[in-house]
Amino acid sequence: MVTILGRAKINLTLDILGLRDDGYHEIATVMQSLALADTLTLTRQEEGITLTVDLPGLEADERNLAHRAAALIMNECGVRNGVHIAITKRIPVAAGLAGGSADAAAALRGMNELYELGLSDECLCDLGAKLGSDIPFSLMGGTVLATGRGEALQSLTDFPQTFVVLAKPPVAVSTPWAYRSYDAHPPEYHPDNAAFIEALARGDRESCAQLISNVLEPVTEAAHPVIGDYRVRMLTHGAICAMMSGSGPTVFGLFADERTAADAAEAFRRETDAAVYLTRTAGRYGQQ
Ligand code: C5P
Repeated sequence: MVTILGRAKINLTLDILGLRDDGYHEIATVMQSLALADTLTLTRQEEGITLTVDLPGLEADERNLAHRAAALIMNECGVRNGVHIAITKRIPVAAGLAGGSADAAAALRGMNELYELGLSDECLCDLGAKLGSDIPFSLMGGTVLATGRGEALQSLTDFPQTFVVLAKPPVAVSTPWAYRSYDAHPPEYHPDNAAFIEALARGDRESCAQLISNVLEPVTEAAHPVIGDYRVRMLTHGAICAMMSGSGPTVFGLFADERTAADAAEAFRRETDAAVYLTRTAGRYGQQ
């Protein structure tokens, strides 16, 4: 039996550089893993893939990315036996936090260990990229610049450890919809990734906080103004910066100290109908 964490992520920057021939968008995004994680427990079984998920309503069959990840690696590596995967969900679904990708990444790592396949990180990332753009990042974690469609990774200096409040409004956002809406109305402002990465290398969290930026935020916010409300609320409650993650709708706030973050989380629970999580930034895979 193998137990693996699949961590959530936020995008500290997200830029779109253009539309690719394959229909995806060329992006440049600084991604950051969080301590908030799903847990996957993988157990060998005679044959087939079975899945249990402790969240009612979430598909526990071949539509689930963890199921597809297990099937892919078994197929590629000629694994004849099967696996049972039990997922404990903590990352909210369809939230812009890569919860599905986290589970797929954990399934790939879990299968690699369970069946002692000896696949390198690079090989796991190549498999992961076939299933979703965020999966290579979810495999590696830490603070990373992701380019291409999100699968080409460059490790960066770790973002200084910071407390994070996540507030997910009760709306669902489809990633393809967000990208299509971006194409219809591309915003004029783009993040300065180079300046962000320089600030990161200096360990300058205050400058990083000034430079966070996500081109999908105005797009999703136009359809869901609650995102702007949450952003302002985060700042009112002491966040050093606040922004929407990925294609949304979750808004994150970064906090210098745990007390302020806990108070802000409490205020969100009192004042809004958001699903609220208090967590912190996390290092690359295998680190805290
Ligand atoms: O790769 P993934 O399955 O996570 O992507 C989901 C959808 O998001 C894609 O089908 C595409 O519509 C959009 N997308 C994109 N450009 C990217 C990543 C995702 O257009 N770089």
